[in-house]
Amino acid sequence: MELTSAPLHKGQVPWRGLLLAALLLAYWNSPVSAQVTVEAVPTHVAEGANVLLQVHNLPTTLQVFYWYKGDTLADSNEIARFIISSSTNSTGPAHTGRETIYQNGSLLFQNVMQNDTGTYTFHMLTANFDNPTKSLQFYVHAPLPKPNITSNNSNPMEGEDSVALMCEPETQNTVYLWRINGQSLSEGDRLKLSIDNRTLTLLTVVRTDTGPYECETRNLVSTSRSDPLTLNITYGPDVPIISPSDTHFQSRTNLSLSCHAASNPPAQYSWSVNGELQASSQELFIPNITTNNSGSYTCLVHNSVTDLNRTTVKNITVLEPVTPPSIQVANTTFKELESVSLTCDSQDIGISIRWLFNGQSLGLTDRMKLSENNSTLSIDPVRREDSGKYECEVSNPVSSERSNPIQLNIIPDPTQGSSGLSAGAIAGIVVGCVAGVALIAALAYFLYFRKTGRGTDQRELTEHKPSASNHNLGPSDSSPNKVNEVTYSVLDFSAQRPRPPDSASPSPRAIEAVYSEVKKK
Ligand SMILES: *[C@@H]1O[C@H](CO)[C@@H](O)[C@H](O)[C@H]1NC(C)=O
Ligand SMILES: *[C@@H]1O[C@H](CO)[C@@H](O)[C@H](O)[C@H]1NC(C)=O
Ligand SMILES: *[C@@H]1O[C@H](CO)[C@@H](O)[C@H](O)[C@H]1NC(C)=O
Ligand SMILES: *[C@@H]1O[C@H](CO)[C@@H](O)[C@H](O)[C@H]1NC(C)=O
Ligand SMILES: *[C@@H]1O[C@H](CO)[C@@H](O)[C@H](O)[C@H]1NC(C)=O
Ligand SMILES: *[C@@H]1O[C@H](CO)[C@@H](O)[C@H](O)[C@H]1NC(C)=O
Ligand SMILES: *[C@@H]1O[C@H](CO)[C@@H](O)[C@H](O)[C@H]1NC(C)=O
Ligand SMILES: *[C@@H]1O[C@H](CO)[C@@H](O)[C@H](O)[C@H]1NC(C)=O
Ligand SMILES: *[C@@H]1O[C@H](CO)[C@@H](O)[C@H](O)[C@H]1NC(C)=O
Ligand SMILES: *[C@@H]1O[C@H](CO)[C@@H](O)[C@H](O)[C@H]1NC(C)=O
Ligand SMILES: *[C@@H]1O[C@H](CO)[C@@H](O)[C@H](O)[C@H]1NC(C)=O
Ligand SMILES: *[C@@H]1O[C@H](CO)[C@@H](O)[C@H](O)[C@H]1NC(C)=O
Repeated sequence: MELTSAPLHKGQVPWRGLLLAALLLAYWNSPVSAQVTVEAVPTHVAEGANVLLQVHNLPTTLQVFYWYKGDTLADSNEIARFIISSSTNSTGPAHTGRETIYQNGSLLFQNVMQNDTGTYTFHMLTANFDNPTKSLQFYVHAPLPKPNITSNNSNPMEGEDSVALMCEPETQNTVYLWRINGQSLSEGDRLKLSIDNRTLTLLTVVRTDTGPYECETRNLVSTSRSDPLTLNITYGPDVPIISPSDTHFQSRTNLSLSCHAASNPPAQYSWSVNGELQASSQELFIPNITTNNSGSYTCLVHNSVTDLNRTTVKNITVLEPVTPPSIQVANTTFKELESVSLTCDSQDIGISIRWLFNGQSLGLTDRMKLSENNSTLSIDPVRREDSGKYECEVSNPVSSERSNPIQLNIIPDPTQGSSGLSAGAIAGIVVGCVAGVALIAALAYFLYFRKTGRGTDQRELTEHKPSASNHNLGPSDSSPNKVNEVTYSVLDFSAQRPRPPDSASPSPRAIEAVYSEVKKK
């Protein structure tokens, strides 16, 4: 298009020049020389693996192509050639038996060795006499051997020794990485790495530096990891701990004590009682103890490597269980306002006493007093609400026992009224009654005057009365029964509510409404 349109516009351009330009254009655009590229896939390859030398954008005018080892086209360096016209190949002197040449230009190199590393050159012949060469390189790396970790101290002592861990062997172009407990490490105050990261130094080890440690090596083509190494750090013994932590035990039970101290190597344990060696074991067992087994119990731990000893002493008291107490009281029946004294009687010593009332811990009121050791409970003055079941409980660190219950009966004194609570309730009831009566009286009065005031249809009132015979609503009725009666009336009228209104007596409805209000109050 351009070729024909250009002369139409310009007119002056000679045909010969245009043709030359077109030819040049075709020549420069031709894919032959400009775009052939080669690459090794991959560039870095592990020993024993394969590498493919690829050629991209082979020209269509291709006739034959060659692969050479090195960067010169010496005949002795020819690996193989491929003749397109016949689709055949032939090998050259440098062919090792591991190379295959393909029609698309590629050369597959199998099972590469370290001395295969180097430059390879692609050369081709085309119909245009455009015969470029292209070179590439690939690198063969030995697979990394499995590393191992060596330590310059197999039994470091806690708080004393520093340890250098070294990752072996040393190899070229290798990166060294360390892991502790599966985590990549971060250098700190006590962790130092050498410049090449091959040596890890632990300054003044502690027991938590045990590890495991792993070393990983990496190069461009492979990764390898050592077996984990665990440090045997000597420490302890720490101060031993005796369990259980109790110090009081009940006689005729079995005493079983256990001692534990952190230590590496594990500690040797021994027990002594009151200074006498009792057992050379971690556990101490004494069956059926008596009070004679009270004393100081010592656990001694010994670390044979550090040659350190540590001890813990526990003072143990063996106690007899308490016997049930009894309550002493002059009488179980008292009159209100008298004073009562309950005594908890126990043979045992070293006990504490507590009192129970109706099965609950006794809450002391200001009318109650306890003697110094709680053995005597005095109530002065006693009140009717103090009636109930009294128990005392004695306990020592290993046991507790309760007395038989004592039932106290307090005869109410009628002059004393009743307890604050019931007096209040009664007062409330009285006030409520008075208020109720007053209200009803007021209501009845109001109703009476309402009826008389609007012309007082006496007949209607009297006729109504028999129909609600029990309900005397007369204003003169002021007996105490009135409260109950009103309640009844309200219920009665409420029951009538759904019925059609009685044409003869509109007044019950009015009463009903008003009485409902009274009820709500
Ligand atoms: C040459 O071609 C044959 C048949 O396709 C093939 O088996 C052989 O591996 C090729 N040789 C090379 C060096 O590519
Ligand atoms: C050339 O042929 C080989 C073998 O068939 C193939 O692996 C490779 O990818 C091809 N290369 C290109 C550039 O197509
Ligand atoms: C390359 O090394 C292998 C052994 O690793 C050897 O057999 C071979 O001869 C070497 N090739 C050259 C060209 O040196
Ligand atoms: C081990 O290496 C550390 C650090 O270099 C050093 O402090 C320590 O003395 C070495 N221990 C032994 C037993 O050589
Ligand atoms: C650690 O590796 C080195 C060299 O690879 C070797 O000499 C040594 O015996 C190995 N040590 C252990 C414990 O495997
Ligand atoms: C050493 O390891 C650290 C990370 O632990 C890394 O940042 C550093 O580059 C490594 N140095 C070498 C020489 O590999
Ligand atoms: C650790 O070292 C101690 C000696 O210090 C040895 O008795 C013990 O068996 C070692 N423990 C292990 C797990 O190797
Ligand atoms: C424990 O010892 C007492 C005497 O101290 C004895 O009467 C009792 O039978 C013993 N009990 C057991 C279970 O051995
Ligand atoms: C530590 O205890 C052991 C017995 O377990 C004893 O032989 C040794 O003398 C004790 N060492 C010291 C320093 O008390
Ligand atoms: C154990 O008792 C002894 C005297 O009997 C006393 O000196 C010591 O402090 C007591 N130890 C403990 C831990 O109570
Ligand atoms: C207990 O008190 C009651 C009333 O005060 C009295 O009747 C009774 O005789 C007394 N009983 C004794 C054993 O004192
Ligand atoms: C006396 O009893 C009170 C509780 O009622 C208790 O807190 C206190 O420890 C007891 N004292 C004695 C000596 O038992």
